[in-house]
Amino acid sequence: MALPTTYTRVALANRPRDFINSDTFSTEIQRLEDLKPSDTHVVVRVDYISLDPAMRGWINEKGSYVSAVKIGETMRAFGFGTVVKVKDGKTGGLRVGDTVKGQMGWAEYRLLRESELEKLSIQRGLDVLDYLGPLSYPGYTAYFGLFDVGKIKAGETLVVSGAAGAVGSIACQIGKLKGCRVIAIAGSQDKCEWLENELGVDKALNYKDGDFYKKCKEIFAASGSGADAGGWDVYFDNVGGDMLDFMLTRMRKGARVALCGTISQYNSSKPKGLASYTNLIVMRARIEGFLVYGINHSLSRALTTHQIPYRMDYASKFAEAEREMAQWILEGKLKRKYHVVEGLAKAPEAINLLFTGGNTGKLIVKVSKGASSRL
Ligand SMILES: NC(=O)c1ccc[n+]([C@@H]2O[C@H](COP(=O)([O-])OP(=O)(O)OC[C@H]3O[C@@H](n4cnc5c(N)ncnc54)[C@H](OP(=O)(O)O)[C@@H]3O)[C@@H](O)[C@H]2O)c1
Repeated sequence: MALPTTYTRVALANRPRDFINSDTFSTEIQRLEDLKPSDTHVVVRVDYISLDPAMRGWINEKGSYVSAVKIGETMRAFGFGTVVKVKDGKTGGLRVGDTVKGQMGWAEYRLLRESELEKLSIQRGLDVLDYLGPLSYPGYTAYFGLFDVGKIKAGETLVVSGAAGAVGSIACQIGKLKGCRVIAIAGSQDKCEWLENELGVDKALNYKDGDFYKKCKEIFAASGSGADAGGWDVYFDNVGGDMLDFMLTRMRKGARVALCGTISQYNSSKPKGLASYTNLIVMRARIEGFLVYGINHSLSRALTTHQIPYRMDYASKFAEAEREMAQWILEGKLKRKYHVVEGLAKAPEAINLLFTGGNTGKLIVKVSKGASSRL
């Protein structure tokens, strides 16, 4: 495999106070010959990386559920790559040409510990990008958030915020597959049309519309009867803040909030509190956070390098979720959409699409021109 003499990496330069800006990251050119494979490490060409809202927390001083990325360190990112160099004479383990997944980072090439990489074999009929979407964290998050935390049942009303994003779009579809009435909330008319016409939700509402709350109240008022009147049973929340506060005023008895994310608060140093939480008592309702993270299917490997302070939920069950969702994709029951940005240089700007609503579906950066996907 012909290799260049230099490569680019993007490092954390300054911690932003609110939105990521042009001072947050710095770009450096490095010599590829300085990446030397060994008995434990291989050189990987980074093909695709995932951009995630959680990255905003990773670059805060205190970090979040993983340790903070240090100033000067290559920005952390999950993704795929191709092994391009192994130590001369090495036998066994990864070989040149293998596709691997793991923590690639914002760089065109990396020297990575072999034990923290997982060889990827793409199932027939699926695409490499599916392993950053439904068959990776976005998929697992929707799956376990709905089944284990939300405990959705057929016939219930499920509300999903951030519905046109990576996690939300999968949550909406799983809700429909399981017989729920699904109300999706997203930030544009186009997204709402996609959710209704392509993904088949029962109703999609644009929260940026002036009459959003009025429309919501009408929809909930028209649903159910008796003790079931006026609301939702499960709220899969990606957004937090005012939206969550409003939703807490429209619960049915025994409602469950699967608290997945609070993206409306990630760029704020003082996240908003809730005013309507006393309704949880009246409605005998439950609000529960959950965390889906892990480097490979092996939790222990993740613990070594990334100093994850908590035991991660569901890591031992990822394979189960992956099998079921792969089947749904193959049967045409689960649609996926990828928003692919070309070139590592675009990553520092592209990450803000997650906070401005510029992405529909899973946001991915294609790092290597040599990488290919059918989608
Ligand atoms: N608990 C876990 O383990 C876990 C795992 C993965 C992700 N998450 C969380 O899940 C959520 C979705 O993640 P994702 O990767 O699927 O991202 P995503 O939904 O693909 O992208 C983020 C979307 O959030 C919406 N948004 C941004 N700012 C907003 C605001 N102020 N109010 C309302 N909506 C806003 C935007 O869409 P609009 O156009 O609709 O505004 C944007 O496209 C995030 O909160 C993330 O942190 C949690």
